[in-house]
Amino acid sequence: MSKPLTEEIKQEVERRRTFAIISHPDAGKTTLTEKLLLFGGAIREAGSVKARKASRHATSDWMEIEKQRGISVTSSVMQFDYSGHRVNILDTPGHQDFSEDTYRTLTAADSAVMLIDVAKGVEAQTIKLFQVCSKRGIPIFTFINKLDREGQSPFELMEELERVLGIRSVPMNWPIGMGRELCGVYDRMNNQVELFQGKDHSKIEVRKVDSYTDPIIREMAGDFLHDQLCQELELLDVAGDPFDLEKVSRGELTPIFFGSAVNNFGVQTFLENFLKLAPPPAPRKSTSGEVEPTNEKFSGYIFKIQANMNPAHRDRIAFLRICSGRFDRGMSVKHVRAGKDIKLSQPQQFLAQDRDIVESAYPGDIIGLFDPGIFRIGDSLSQGSEITFDELPTFSPELFAKVTVKNALKHKQYQKGIDQLTEEGTIQVFQTTGFEETILGVVGQLQFEVFEYRMKGEYGVDIQLHRMQFQFARWITGEVDPSKYRINSQLVKDKHGNFVVLFENEYAMRTAMDKNPNTTFLETAP
Ligand code: G4P
Repeated sequence: MSKPLTEEIKQEVERRRTFAIISHPDAGKTTLTEKLLLFGGAIREAGSVKARKASRHATSDWMEIEKQRGISVTSSVMQFDYSGHRVNILDTPGHQDFSEDTYRTLTAADSAVMLIDVAKGVEAQTIKLFQVCSKRGIPIFTFINKLDREGQSPFELMEELERVLGIRSVPMNWPIGMGRELCGVYDRMNNQVELFQGKDHSKIEVRKVDSYTDPIIREMAGDFLHDQLCQELELLDVAGDPFDLEKVSRGELTPIFFGSAVNNFGVQTFLENFLKLAPPPAPRKSTSGEVEPTNEKFSGYIFKIQANMNPAHRDRIAFLRICSGRFDRGMSVKHVRAGKDIKLSQPQQFLAQDRDIVESAYPGDIIGLFDPGIFRIGDSLSQGSEITFDELPTFSPELFAKVTVKNALKHKQYQKGIDQLTEEGTIQVFQTTGFEETILGVVGQLQFEVFEYRMKGEYGVDIQLHRMQFQFARWITGEVDPSKYRINSQLVKDKHGNFVVLFENEYAMRTAMDKNPNTTFLETAP
C-alpha cells in the first residue's frame, strides 16, 4: 500500500536541503560546487561545472551561447542525493552576471553557505549577499577556503566576521598549520583529526582521538604545530562561543569549517555536518498567514524569470520554488494574480548539464516552467485555496543610466519592452519628477547590456544609455521635500509611484539622512 500523502510529503520535506553558496568571485564557489556534486554523484568528472563557467566568461560570448542554446542555462539549480538527503544548490551568479536575480535567488534558499578566501577575508560581494540572507534570518554556514595557501589566522577571520558582518562564529574544526605547513584539521565536534597524506596531499587520513591533546596528533603534526593547536583550542574553549543550534537557526551564529576545495580537503566533512545542521524547508509567509511545507495542497512562487536570448524563440522559463504540497506533472493550479487555472505540463528540473522533465517534486525543490509571458516575478501558484506569498523585496540598484530612444516613432514598442522587462526583473525603472525622463537602475552591468540587446532584438528599438553618477537608491517615506535633493542627489519615482532618492555617493546619502529626521530612508521598496 502506498503511503498517505501527508506522510510522504513530511518525509520528503525532512530530507530536503535547499541552499545557496554566497561568495565573492574567485573564492572558489565553482570548485566547491563541483566537489559537492561529485560527492553526490550528480557529475562524474571534475571540470564539468568549471567548463560551464568558463564558457560564460565574456559578455559577448555569453550572449552568443544563450542564442545558440535557445534558452539560458547560465543560472540554475543543481540537485543531488547524499546519505538520504535531497540536496538543491541554487546557483547565485557572480562575476559580470551579478544582478538582482542573484539576490532574488537567495529568497528561495533555506540556508546559505558563505565561502571565504582565507587570504582575502570578507569581500564586497559577500557582504551584500550576506546582508540579504541575514535580513531573512536564515542560517548561514561559513567555509573558509584555500587553506593550502598562506592566509589570515583563524582568530583574525573570526574577528573580521564579527566586525564586518556583525555575526559571531563557532569553529567546527580548526586548522593544523596553514599554507605550506598545513597538515590537517582538528574536528572539534567529533574529536577526530583529518590529516593530509602523501606529498601531493592526495589522501586524507581520519583518526579518532580523545581530545586535541592526544599524542597521536603530536606524532603526526610535530611539536611546533601541535603546541600551537593546543594553545589556540584552549583559548577557544575558554573564550569562544559554544555551539548553539538555536542561534545558528536564527542566523545569529555561524558555524565555521576550514578546508581547501581544490584539494578536496574538508569538503566531505563539511557536507556531512552541514546536512545534519541545516534546516529543511520552513513555513513561508503569505497574506493569509504562514504556509506549512507539509500542507497537502501544492503552492509555490516565482522568484526568477529567464528569458530566451534568441528572438526567434520568445519563450521564457519561470523558476518556481515549491513551498508546500506535492507537485505532479500535468497538475492544474491557480495562477493567483491572473485569477486563472493553468496546467503545469512541461516542468523542467535543473541539473548541472542537463534538464530533465520532472514528474513530481516537493517543498524546497525548484522547477522551471515554460512561460509564454504569463508570469511575473513574485507570482504565486496554488492548489485549492488561493495563497499569495509575500512580495519579493525590490533590491536597491547601484548603477543608473538615462535612456534615449534613437527613433521617436518606436515609442510604443519601447514602452512595451520597458513594461515586459521590468516585469521579468531585468531592470528597474524610475521617472524623474520634473520632465518625466526615464532612468534605469540595475545591480550589475550585464543587466544594462541585456536590456539594450533585447530592446533591439525583441522590440526593434535602438536605444542609447547614458550612464549617470548615482550609486545609491533609497526609497523615502514620511516628509518628502524635493528641494532637499538637488545636490549630488535626485528625487525620482519608481513604477508604483513611490518616492526614491538617488545619491552620487555615500557622503551625500548620510548627510541627507542626518538632515531629514522626519524622512525614513529604506534600502528596499516599501
Ligand atoms: P569562483 O567560482 O568563486 O569564482 O572560484 P573558482 O572555483 O573558479 O576558483 C577560483 C580560483 O581559485 C581557481 O583558480 C581555483 O582553482 C582556485 N581555488 C579554488 N579552491 C582552492 C583551494 O582550496 N586552494 C587553492 N590554492 N586554490 C583554490 P584559477 O587559477 O582561477 O583556475 P584554475 O586554472 O586553477 O582552474
